[in-house]
Amino acid sequence: MLLRHHVFVCTNARAEGGRPSCGARRSEAVLEALTNEILRRGLGADVAITHSGCLGPCWDGPNVVVYPDGVFYTGVNPDDAAAIADHLAGGEPVARLLRTR
Ligand code: FES
Repeated sequence: MLLRHHVFVCTNARAEGGRPSCGARRSEAVLEALTNEILRRGLGADVAITHSGCLGPCWDGPNVVVYPDGVFYTGVNPDDAAAIADHLAGGEPVARLLRTR
């Protein structure tokens, strides 16, 4: 099987009071929404979506990385699933979610 994309959603969770985490900002809901959108579009054979540990820029999360494109999305919420799925279906990356720093 040849995947077109592999998507990593940071679901790392930390206790409140220190460095923020994607898990504390509902990244599990992002992963679920993205998975549902990919399956709804029949792209399940082309796109793998998996949890990941911390990707680095915790203050900007929830964070999502798309390979092989090397696209890094920040501040993702479940409502962004359709836009990201458009990218995964062959469209352009979602400019408003691109990590810029
Ligand atoms: S906890 Fe998600 S990038 Fe660090």
